[in-house]
Amino acid sequence: MENRQNRFIKPDTEKKIDTLLAKMTVKEKIGQLHQLGTSPVGGFEISKNEMKKLLDAGRLTKEDYDNWMSNEQWDENEGLVRAGEIGSFLGRDKDPNFYNHLQRVAVEESRLGIPLIFGNDVIHGHRTVFPIPLAESCSFDDETFEKTAEIAAKEAASEGIHWTFAPMLDISRDARWGRIAESAGEDTYLASRYAAAKVRGFQGEDFSDKDRIVACAKHFVAYGAAEGGRDYNSVDMSMQKLWNTYLPPFKAACEAGAGTFMSAFNDLNGIPCSANTYLLRTVLREKFGFKGFVVSDAFSVGECVAHGVAEDRKQAAELCLNAGVNMDMVVGCYRDHVEELLNEGKISEDTLNEAVREILRIKFAKGLFDNPYTDVESAADILICDEHRKEALKAAEKSIVLLKNEDILPLRKNAKIAVVGELADDAEEMLGCWVLGGLPEETVTLIDALKLRGIDFVYEKCCGVKTDFNREAFERAIENADIIIATVGEYRDMSGEAASYCDIDLHGEQKKLIDALYNCGKPFVTLLFNGRPLAIRDVAEKTPALVECWHLGTEAGNAICNVLFGDYNPSGRLTATFPNYSGECPLYYNHLNTGRPTSEVRHSSKYQDAPIKPLYPFGYGLSYTDYAYSNLSAEIIGDNISVSVDVENAGKVSGTETVQFYIQDVVAKTARPVRELKEYKKVYLEPGEKVTVTVKITIADIGYYDEALEYIVEPGEFKLWVGHDSTTELVTSVFVK
Ligand code: BGC
Repeated sequence: MENRQNRFIKPDTEKKIDTLLAKMTVKEKIGQLHQLGTSPVGGFEISKNEMKKLLDAGRLTKEDYDNWMSNEQWDENEGLVRAGEIGSFLGRDKDPNFYNHLQRVAVEESRLGIPLIFGNDVIHGHRTVFPIPLAESCSFDDETFEKTAEIAAKEAASEGIHWTFAPMLDISRDARWGRIAESAGEDTYLASRYAAAKVRGFQGEDFSDKDRIVACAKHFVAYGAAEGGRDYNSVDMSMQKLWNTYLPPFKAACEAGAGTFMSAFNDLNGIPCSANTYLLRTVLREKFGFKGFVVSDAFSVGECVAHGVAEDRKQAAELCLNAGVNMDMVVGCYRDHVEELLNEGKISEDTLNEAVREILRIKFAKGLFDNPYTDVESAADILICDEHRKEALKAAEKSIVLLKNEDILPLRKNAKIAVVGELADDAEEMLGCWVLGGLPEETVTLIDALKLRGIDFVYEKCCGVKTDFNREAFERAIENADIIIATVGEYRDMSGEAASYCDIDLHGEQKKLIDALYNCGKPFVTLLFNGRPLAIRDVAEKTPALVECWHLGTEAGNAICNVLFGDYNPSGRLTATFPNYSGECPLYYNHLNTGRPTSEVRHSSKYQDAPIKPLYPFGYGLSYTDYAYSNLSAEIIGDNISVSVDVENAGKVSGTETVQFYIQDVVAKTARPVRELKEYKKVYLEPGEKVTVTVKITIADIGYYDEALEYIVEPGEFKLWVGHDSTTELVTSVFVK
């Protein structure tokens, strides 16, 4: 496969960069490495819009507001742009006029006219908000991964953003870690396909296109393996695990042409990722062939001091720049210290020039030297337009996972319905963990969607995520109902950054609500809104139907209604294992077997107080129909394993099945996972329809990195399972010579 990084190296561009570098002063060079927030307070968390909201909400005095908003800070920042001392902004303000203004200062008023690059977190949509990544990954649908990124890029670009800090590619196997919500889940193969699709979606064929933005593969690397699932925590892992499990999605993003990478907050085996020469130079540049630039995660250069590997910010700058972080996000360590470090010989001129070159290379590739400005007129027509809403609905439908259904769903449209729970009617909470552009007033809740469909229902909140259960309201709500829809889960800020929980059961009194439903004797369906797998064994036992609705974005309510009433047959599959109890984390399907494989036997690898199976395994998800598998066969043809299986829709409604292919290297030099996903394919089947699904798995792709970090495919038996989820028993073998 072509490594699209090579496309960034264009002789004429490199010559232009040589010419610029020859003219640049040291201060101008350092300026290119410095990224600042557009917030008037100089940091990056609070945008001008947010400041206004704080004022309107009475949380800021008018005097303070005026002080913050006074142009002093801005005059200073503009002065720095004019002097060529800022290369990039992390823009929280959705105002392309403001960005254009800053850009004009850079391009028309600075000595060398080098354009700024505006970056932002365009993670799961922009103004049109798509399902959170963990939810979207459950679609197992590369086209969806690509399409939603394409739309997000188009909307963000129309508001002046050139560059997104996405996709997030951290393999996440610990549901306590809040950022699992931003990931594609626990599986390396799926995350690698997701990575390539997202890069294609954001960047298109060529990101100089005005509708495209530069992608950033983050957080490099192994951030998802934070010890105990506690955010920002240390990661200590073998190099084999790093190479086999955590690096492949980043390699895929690199080969797909990601223009930038972000170095992670965590330390890896004691070395912070932003100061990690092995990761940033040996792995990323030498082995992966990366030609773009690396931005540090926010403040992570300065945090080398807290990590205890730098005595002060100056030494932190020295370590990180030498290690290969090109751009220092918002903390200003490079701005303050690189000149001095250069004079002291601690950073070489070559290192500085190279760091600048790689940033300029991406600015040239983005076309910023030719077209620095955003067409402010175009935004209004495309932001949350009908076409984008339609795609948001499709993505949301595909992300929903039906976890349990004892003949409750789909619902009859004329049933008397009661809805309970706070999350049924909270638009803001549907938007998920990363929302910079989405608006609650443009978001459809379950209640909105029921009304839109003219469904007869009563609604009582009865219980919030964190507020008490109100029995009176509950009795009132269910009195005349044939069926009750309960909505429980997490607020959107209970997952994402700095949202680790050691207990991932339902919070507050939500379980009282479920108990009341269980005891009332009426049928009910429980909808979960959350950003992580939840440990809800007892809830799952008590509820006759359980639907995983995640945080689905703009079209959440409509998608949920389509599933509830059978207008869309659920097809989502879990990409992260649901544990029975929080104490089982980290939990994932593709573990090693151990010398005492998990079983009913006492002295086997397990907890004595938990079932040996997870609550819901990887790849799991029900449908309103059943799929039957037969005739599995596999043979080696040339460089590939050709696998065929018959899949039949054995039920009464049409549906989409995700056919999953797993392998195991039965005997190898080092222990290999019990199963690993190696391919998936979606098929749409009418009732009674049967198709033969054939895939080719490249033999070169079933190997692994051994203890010498050599990639090898060992001869011998490989088992091959095919089926509906990671527990399928339909198996065959091939022998690789
Ligand atoms: C997060 C990144 C994000 C950055 C900029 C950091 O706190 O870890 O994922 O891209 O902020 O907003």
